[in-house]
Amino acid sequence: SDIYRAGISGARPAVPVHPEALEQAARKALSAEAFAYIAGGAGAGRTMDANRAAFDRWQVWPRPLRDVSDRDLSTSFLGKTRPSPLLLAPLGVMEMAHPEADLAVARAAASLGVPYVLSNQASFPMEQVAEASGGARLFQLYWSSSDELNASLLRRAEASGCEAVVVTLDTHLLGWRTRDLDLAYLPFTRGLGIAQYTSDPVFQQLVRERARQAGPAPSVRMTPKTVIAGVSMARKAAPITGTGVRGGLRSPLPRAAVETFLDVFSTPALTWADLAKAREWTSLPIILKGIVHPDDASRAVDAGADGVWVSNHGGRQIDASVPTLAVLPEIVERVDGRVPVVFDSGVRGGADAFIALALGATMVALGRPYAYGLAIAGEAGVREVVRNVLAELDITLGLSGHTSIREIASDALRRT
Ligand code: FNR
Repeated sequence: SDIYRAGISGARPAVPVHPEALEQAARKALSAEAFAYIAGGAGAGRTMDANRAAFDRWQVWPRPLRDVSDRDLSTSFLGKTRPSPLLLAPLGVMEMAHPEADLAVARAAASLGVPYVLSNQASFPMEQVAEASGGARLFQLYWSSSDELNASLLRRAEASGCEAVVVTLDTHLLGWRTRDLDLAYLPFTRGLGIAQYTSDPVFQQLVRERARQAGPAPSVRMTPKTVIAGVSMARKAAPITGTGVRGGLRSPLPRAAVETFLDVFSTPALTWADLAKAREWTSLPIILKGIVHPDDASRAVDAGADGVWVSNHGGRQIDASVPTLAVLPEIVERVDGRVPVVFDSGVRGGADAFIALALGATMVALGRPYAYGLAIAGEAGVREVVRNVLAELDITLGLSGHTSIREIASDALRRT
């Protein structure tokens, strides 16, 4: 009701409340390349459509006359009580949406008590994000081909106060991103979204080695500072539009940094056996993101994972992949309460979150909608998008006849 009251007093929302209007407003605020990158999916976009369509198979089944005047959205996750069951999913390269990128997102999340999963492809080093916001943070890792780099990133995550590590398993190859291909656009080749690497001592060493091999020796001395400065020079030189991706990277230093990044980003050779190494690198809880098969969920728990994150990367990796909501109930059954189950891909409002929670998700993660809020109105835009999802979840909880999100189960839904 606070949101309606604000309307009566003449205050206009900073971002559109309707999910489609939100996306359209973000499209206007963003360059064609940035919008294509953020909104796009793999292939013809069938997984994105299927993610949404899977919600249509479930309907909320309201039960009135149950006194819902006191409602409680709080839940327990990673050993702590959280004010709500919402997480902000890791989104890379948010500097394309707003110059404050992850700093703005972290502050908005903290103001609502929503844990923020900081991306491996963030635009600011994790230490700087920690300084900007004392809120709950998790660190998302793309498993690099360099184990030394993996170990270093996880050390930094632990030292900068992250509560857990989220290892993303569905990006061992980059998806067939048709909208980006049409624009010949890949942010990483322009030095965007690689701040976590350029601020890393192991990565800096790899860049120096590569630049040395590429000879002739660069005229600047290679220190961590010059690696970072070199990459920002490359950004300025490489235009966001046009196809001259390498055109701006004439200096051997930024070129070495970007090429080193392309070498170490992820590895298609990763197996279950490799995952065990993460336990030696960190004492933080480890959550596996990108699980969509019940057998993999069982295996993750058996292998000692501290959480399973059901995700198809918002439909950005495989065209015509299984929608996450369709597999959620089976995965929840297999996990059987042993570890938390996080859910994402296709959540656009509080009723969607309600359905996922009723089907057994412990936490629900939001992706693109908050990036749209960021693009339109920075930190305030993110806060408003997240607050709107929470408000709709609270209203849906009460209207369906429940007082606590911990009590909702599949009997709160009807299958169509
Ligand atoms: C992502 N996602 C993602 N996942 C991840 O583990 N690391 C990352 O760096 C990114 N980067 C990223 C950028 C952008 C622009 C998008 C849209 C998505 C996937 C993300 O964490 C999440 O799984 C999906 O966004 C959830 O789907 P919805 O809510 O966007 O439909």
